[in-house]
Amino acid sequence: MQDFRFQSPTTIIFGKNTQCDVGQETKKYGKKVLLHYGKGHIKKTGLYQQVVDSLKEAGIDFVELGGVCPNPRLSLVREGIELCRRQGVDFILAVGGGSAIDSAKAIAIGVPYDGDVWDFYSGKEYPKKTLPVGVVLTIPATGSEASNSSVITNEENKTKRGIVNNFLRPVFAIMNPELTITLPPYQTACGAADIMAHVMERYFTRVQNVELTDRLCESTLKTLINNTPVVLSRPDDYNARAEIMWAGTLAHNDVLSTGRISDWASHWIEHELSAINDVAHGAGLAIIFPAWMKYVYRHDVTRFVQFAVRVWNVEQAFNDPEKTARDGIDSLEVFFRSIGLPTRLYEIDITKNDFDRIVENCMRYDDNTVGQFVKLSDEDIYHILKLAE
Ligand code: NZQ
Ligand code: ZN
Repeated sequence: MQDFRFQSPTTIIFGKNTQCDVGQETKKYGKKVLLHYGKGHIKKTGLYQQVVDSLKEAGIDFVELGGVCPNPRLSLVREGIELCRRQGVDFILAVGGGSAIDSAKAIAIGVPYDGDVWDFYSGKEYPKKTLPVGVVLTIPATGSEASNSSVITNEENKTKRGIVNNFLRPVFAIMNPELTITLPPYQTACGAADIMAHVMERYFTRVQNVELTDRLCESTLKTLINNTPVVLSRPDDYNARAEIMWAGTLAHNDVLSTGRISDWASHWIEHELSAINDVAHGAGLAIIFPAWMKYVYRHDVTRFVQFAVRVWNVEQAFNDPEKTARDGIDSLEVFFRSIGLPTRLYEIDITKNDFDRIVENCMRYDDNTVGQFVKLSDEDIYHILKLAE
């Protein structure tokens, strides 16, 4: 196990009707709030009104900015920063999914910064200050409600960039599984794939002697495998929704990566797919992750056998660990298909003509590679895209 420091300061307020506490919770951190949300599902479901009522009851003054789209855009972040400065906002409240939360985080670090907020995402600067951010979560997926990252799309040059910094962890996250019942099945499935991907990015490590976190990862994956089909057939099953929602936070608040080195190649490649054609992040991952596995599994067959046997109950092939490993990868792919997700690039209209651009745009470590389990070169990424064709 590696040495580590772990801090997860987000207060989780979990359960039925917790959204009605948002005013009292916000009051602990701010006086003037920016209420930030997406394209409007919260108005249809009545959540918007509940949040507004709760803020008013707590005597909190607020301004609002809706319109965050999936794969949130830099232009709206800039608009939010200007609005906050003009109005003297000192707290950002995101109501929605990863897109609203990431946009809120970007506004929060942009307000106290003199330069352009994209400087943080392009790697030119590190944030040194932030306004506090609170969350009312409506989709279990990204884990952004407690994560230290934010991902923004620059629509001018069609790149999507993530940053990681402990300032980016929200101060509280209100999580009522009932709020997720209105999710369309496709979004539920995309969320499940993203949660599983966050676990698998951590699970596939070269660090040895990490039994506790291996087993935590495996049980989180099994929870998704068991409960996702349940909510797809019975959308109002509270307990199954609750399992998935809590799994989503634990998958990405970094407890599962303690003592390990995580990979992240599949995420970095996927971000470039969604930058090109706006595919939902979870759908892109359902395509890229199995392809990545097929390309790298021979680097540590034992770990892939463990994944196959413990997570997917694959029967071990006699004298053929590589077959067992491949059966585990197939099980993952079959699962993604069974919940209605694409597993090939043509299904999201990405063709060979896009490959060079995806390879070129992928975020890199200093040594010009992508990923940690195997350090991928440009040629490796190209091969992975070919496997996903
Ligand atoms: O726009 P609204 O009206 O809110 O509708 C949303 C949107 O259309 C809808 N939705 C959300 N909750 C709903 C609902 N519809 C009905 N009922 C509900 N309860 O679902 C759609 C998708 O929402 P979005 O916020 O885009 O989804 P998600 O949470 O998957 O966020 C995706 C973004 O987060 C980034 C992704 O790259 C992508 O940009 N990520 C952020 C991470 C982080 N900050 O830690 C980590 C992830 O790996 C990821 O990269
Ligand atoms: Zn993700």
